[in-house]
Amino acid sequence: MAQHYPVLLAETLEYLAINPTGTYLDCTAGLGGHTTAIAAQLTQGGRLISNDRDPQSLEMAMRNSAEFSERIEFQHAEFSELSLTGLDGLVADLGVSRFQLTDPERGFSFQSEGPLDMRMDQTRGETAADLLNNSSENLIADWLYQLGEERRARKIARALVRARPIRSTLHLAGVVERAVPRTGPIHPATKTFQALRMLVNGEQQQLDALLERAPKMVRPGGRIVIISFHSLEDRKVKDKFKEMARLGDASILTKKPVVPSEREVRENPPSRSAKLRAVETAESL
Ligand SMILES: C[S@@+](CC[C@H](N)C(=O)[O-])C[C@H]1O[C@@H](n2cnc3c(N)ncnc32)[C@H](O)[C@@H]1O
Repeated sequence: MAQHYPVLLAETLEYLAINPTGTYLDCTAGLGGHTTAIAAQLTQGGRLISNDRDPQSLEMAMRNSAEFSERIEFQHAEFSELSLTGLDGLVADLGVSRFQLTDPERGFSFQSEGPLDMRMDQTRGETAADLLNNSSENLIADWLYQLGEERRARKIARALVRARPIRSTLHLAGVVERAVPRTGPIHPATKTFQALRMLVNGEQQQLDALLERAPKMVRPGGRIVIISFHSLEDRKVKDKFKEMARLGDASILTKKPVVPSEREVRENPPSRSAKLRAVETAESL
């Protein structure tokens, strides 16, 4: 495996303020980067539940954190199914992992040919191909505009509907590229792929569910740390934390979102859009 850089790792550990005998939840095991680092800080009695909706990622996280296996329990669930209580802290590192993005079979990338799937959990739900080939032009345009913040959504939706059935990642990328001219170094299908990924995985609804559940899962005085990569997600996290603070349910630990250092961005360019926010839940909750 290429070197794996867990995003904002030192900052995540700092804001979790780990109690070595505490109980923690990593909502997004991924390749196990944050999981391994959290488990390394636990001692006997400490416990980490490491969760992911993607069974393949769970297997990799398990392998990569094997050194600390006696402190880690792996769990396959999506955010909307999480129901733990009494945690000392939880972390969620949202979005997709490098592994998911770069494995052609998963269908997330417009750079390699693969099935148009995009499900983080391939055991359930509709694929990107199902949604694209069976939805109205208007609906597709709305998705591209709202989730991808794609200004040329109508034009792309029209071209996609004309080219149906869309069968593969490169087929989709080619149709978008022919419909809208390239305006810079970024591939013209970037926003289309992002919107479809968010749609297929219900990412907005999943984050809503996580933000609703997290305060109930963490004990009074516990920590919630969330890393997001998209302005829509960061806004949701910010608004939720502000609301918790206003109600006296938590204090905000990050007045401004914490972003990666220049060095981290240089070493791991995909970290560039990461934003970390953290709260401590009120003792009297
Ligand atoms: C950015 S990666 C996490 C990387 C991980 N922190 C590491 O250091 O290796 C995000 C992971 O979250 C998982 N994920 C995303 N949304 C999820 C959800 N709603 N429920 C459960 N897991 C989810 C994805 O399957 C993916 O493996």
